[in-house]
Amino acid sequence: MQLSNTNLLQQHSFINNEWVASSSRFPVDNPATGEIIIEVSDAGEAETLQAINAAAIAFKTWSRITAKERSAIMRKWFELMMANTDDLALLLTSEQGKPLAEAKGEVAYGASFIEWYAEECKRVYGETIPTPSSTKRMMTIKQPIGVVAAITPWNFPIAMITRKIAPALAAGCTVVLKPSKDTPLCALALAYLAKEAGFPKGVLNIVATTATGEVGKILTTHPFIKKVSFTGSTEVGKVLMEQSSSTIKKLSLELGGNAPCIIFDDADIEVAVKGTIATKYRNAGQTCVCANRILVQQNIYGRFMEAYTKAVAELKVGNGLEEHVFIGPLINEAAINKVKRLLFDATEKGATVTMGGQQHEAGELFFEPTIVTNCTTEMLLSQEEIFGPVSSVFVFDTEQDAVELSNNTVYGLAAYFFSQDINRIYRVMEQLEYGIIGVNEGIISHAEAPFGGVKQSGFGKEGSFYGMEDYLVVKYVCVGGMG
Ligand code: SIN
Repeated sequence: MQLSNTNLLQQHSFINNEWVASSSRFPVDNPATGEIIIEVSDAGEAETLQAINAAAIAFKTWSRITAKERSAIMRKWFELMMANTDDLALLLTSEQGKPLAEAKGEVAYGASFIEWYAEECKRVYGETIPTPSSTKRMMTIKQPIGVVAAITPWNFPIAMITRKIAPALAAGCTVVLKPSKDTPLCALALAYLAKEAGFPKGVLNIVATTATGEVGKILTTHPFIKKVSFTGSTEVGKVLMEQSSSTIKKLSLELGGNAPCIIFDDADIEVAVKGTIATKYRNAGQTCVCANRILVQQNIYGRFMEAYTKAVAELKVGNGLEEHVFIGPLINEAAINKVKRLLFDATEKGATVTMGGQQHEAGELFFEPTIVTNCTTEMLLSQEEIFGPVSSVFVFDTEQDAVELSNNTVYGLAAYFFSQDINRIYRVMEQLEYGIIGVNEGIISHAEAPFGGVKQSGFGKEGSFYGMEDYLVVKYVCVGGMG
């Protein structure tokens, strides 16, 4: 890996603006080739406590400087990220696998949260409340909640970090971040740029670790941590929620999804195919908002499937550093095994694989773009996140059937549908039990918009005005004895 700015490749924990080595290391590899990129310090209890203490001390000053001062540092960080786009994208593709063009898109997407919250922090307004008593005056102020623990996944090694820590830092909180052990390098590169941008020591701290459970437990039980923000599986989210109850921490949980993508008979087929490919095959199907179930209305089934199959057949699989590759490797062997298990279960129960269905010749962690039809609710792929390049296709008759099928899951993160009927658009949008709805659109994530789910997909919003509120506490002040 040839970086122009070699300082971006770091291998130790980032604590109090210092690079802190640990006694043991773990390898970070490239999922496309299996090659080890570098060995990273494996942080444990000692480093985690050091990071929490540094963040707690830094909070005393960072929370008190003006929003304008914080904004200037954030803005500089954003600019440094954009100036280092090519290197960050190369690092991202190397440790995570997504195609380089998509990685560049993620750098810009990730940086956009920093830019947006650098502005938003100047507008954290309180309010005055009309008093019910002539002797009292009432108001609210908003203040940063305190030290935040951010626990982030491997599928967006930059954007899932900035989506959490940009609003936290902008609000005046300090942060201890635990990135995924599969993709710590982007996180450490962001730390390098944060220091360059002028963040004071202790404001941002990063511990990379393979001791996920142990470090997660410290972050969710330590009394100095006032808020935990986690993106990952519902299973792990439940454990973190339970652990956080011991000190009643504020939580944001962005958990699993099971997104339906409905193609109604009045859809524009071209728009529907383009949108469905975008939501299904982005990041090789490894996003929480990827279409997990494609529901096609019976009377448009033939036309849609013909166009969709043709488009999927054109998606090039390979190492993300090669030109025109659209689908890179999956993150690890467990991901490949999960896809195989779900396909085996589906075909055992009567589904038909009409395209793909096997590991791809590009390498051990590559999977063919796959389409599986005749899917039913008994199959595991209708209940579990596939997290791979597999389109599972269901057929429905009526609008009500589609809504019921869509809502028939414990998850409620994102849902998509394609229709040109404005009445249907409002009707269906209102009935879908999801936090995010894409209508005639497969790409819905933006710094300006609130991202987050309902039901067992979690709670709390990231991005937008709401994303900042999650890191603030409202203090009500009542001044008595007024004349
Ligand atoms: C996710 O998979 O959790 C994030 C996807 C996105 O930001 O669009």
